[in-house]
Amino acid sequence: MTRVAIIGAGPSGLAALRAFESARTKGAEIPELVCYERQESWGGIWNYTWRTGLDAHGEAVHGSMYRYLWSNGPKECLEFADYTFEEHFGRPIPSYPPRAVLHDYIVGRVNRSDVKKYINFETAVRWVEYDEDTAKYTVRVHDLKSDLYSESEFDFVINASGHFSTPNVPVFEGFELFPGRIMHSHDFRDAVEFAGKDLLVVGSSYSAEDIGIQAYKYGAKSVTYSYRTAPMGFKWPETMDERSLLTKVVGKTAHFADGSTKDVDAIVLCTGYLHHYPFLPDSLRLKSANRLWPLDLYKGIFWQDQPTFMYLGGQDQYYTFNMFDSQAWYARDVILGRIALPDAATREADLLAWRVKEEACENPSDDIDFQTEYIRDLLAATDYPFLDVDHVARLFKQWEHHKEEDILTYRDRSYPSVITGTQSPAHHTTWIKALDDSLAVFLANKSSS
Ligand SMILES: Cc1cc2nc3c(=O)[nH]c(=O)nc-3n(C[C@H](O)[C@H](O)[C@H](O)COP(=O)(O)OP(=O)(O)OC[C@H]3O[C@@H](n4cnc5c(N)ncnc54)[C@H](O)[C@@H]3O)c2cc1C
Ligand SMILES: NC(=O)c1ccc[n+]([C@@H]2O[C@H](COP(=O)([O-])OP(=O)(O)OC[C@H]3O[C@@H](n4cnc5c(N)ncnc54)[C@H](OP(=O)(O)O)[C@@H]3O)[C@@H](O)[C@H]2O)c1
Repeated sequence: MTRVAIIGAGPSGLAALRAFESARTKGAEIPELVCYERQESWGGIWNYTWRTGLDAHGEAVHGSMYRYLWSNGPKECLEFADYTFEEHFGRPIPSYPPRAVLHDYIVGRVNRSDVKKYINFETAVRWVEYDEDTAKYTVRVHDLKSDLYSESEFDFVINASGHFSTPNVPVFEGFELFPGRIMHSHDFRDAVEFAGKDLLVVGSSYSAEDIGIQAYKYGAKSVTYSYRTAPMGFKWPETMDERSLLTKVVGKTAHFADGSTKDVDAIVLCTGYLHHYPFLPDSLRLKSANRLWPLDLYKGIFWQDQPTFMYLGGQDQYYTFNMFDSQAWYARDVILGRIALPDAATREADLLAWRVKEEACENPSDDIDFQTEYIRDLLAATDYPFLDVDHVARLFKQWEHHKEEDILTYRDRSYPSVITGTQSPAHHTTWIKALDDSLAVFLANKSSS
């Protein structure tokens, strides 16, 4: 029987399991599936942990999410076409849920589709090797509970291990002697730690933006952003501002490229993540920056030199959960023999053509259009339920616009579901005042305060 290994039970790995399960319930014969997940539970990065550094088994902590993290895009843009928020929660809910609510939604879908049986939890993949003669992969795993290694052979491997967990940590002169805390966003857990403090945030992307406004929300005295390429340019409140690149720190004084200085108590490096796959040989390993079209992946999924090896979620993400689904359904159909991949030269020409389109993108609106076209292309080939990607793209552009209008209130907006058409209700409390981000409080009919 054909065997498929799936590495990781985050949203991408779960999408793969769900895709196969959906085919099975429609009568298809599916291959033997074995999913390896090194954490105790599923949900990937949405599975919150208080831990930083190493976990109970000495594994690098995967989680990069923090307390008080709310979705940074409207939930209507990520909604699964085969499992709506209304179906899960039994009623419409506001557009920007906190982490626990999204985690509940992700897990709700797989709980209802009986796929847990395929997952080996607390089992880390240590090495994957391809044998040209047998055309099979040997996957070597470490069962962290029993502390035993074992190996198994597979015909296909789907790598869904995520790429926002290994921090990219630059160093700046004077860090050794800085008298406060320096951390990467991967280790950031609780903004309350910075109440009353002057905080420096290095970086100008989503982590920087969100950790900075969180710190403001939970009482930081000031937040100073430092950018390398370009400022974010939002209308910041009085106690927040943007400076050019940090050049050094002297004592607690941060120096910037424009010659200005600022005394700070703590520094958070929101400097992004590395594609880090220490369990893969060079011949299978994606080496890429965080971008919309990493090279070497046909359809953004299939490893060009070895298309029985696949990546899900390997690109930068406007679309998330429904993009992972569209990839998973496509990958499944290739494995089931429903879609035939073209020859290597055709694949290469196709993936390079997408790279040219990606490089022509000049702004977030172009990026959104690019990823929309990508998903449209994937969806056209499978039986994934209809998803109106033009509608999703319109919502993404409204979201961008609302952020530009006011970075502190964009999460108070509501949008209609692309799948059901139902308008989401306004939340009972504005984001800036909603200090408790628990599922119970979010789903309550009115504020607890
Ligand atoms: C701070 C932060 C906030 C985010 N917020 C949002 C948001 O608001 N909205 C949104 O849509 N997206 C958000 N994202 C994007 C996020 O990448 C996706 O939502 C999603 O989690 C990606 O799913 P994934 O399955 O590809 O990766 P992950 O969620 O990272 O899951 C990968 C899984 O693979 C497992 N794994 C890794 N290596 C191994 C191994 N060797 N052996 C076995 N298992 C392994 C991990 O334990 C993990 O469970 C955020 C990302 C970050 C970092
Ligand atoms: N739900 C939420 O609210 C939330 C919160 C945080 C993150 N996220 C998600 O997490 C993912 C990762 O986002 P991210 O912001 O961590 O990573 P990212 O989007 O890859 O951005 C990395 C940032 O680091 C900067 N940088 C890299 N090296 C640097 C250096 N040596 N010096 C100075 N700056 C440097 C980059 O600057 P350049 O522009 O110069 O390259 C860029 O601004 C995204 O998918 C995002 O949506 C979501």
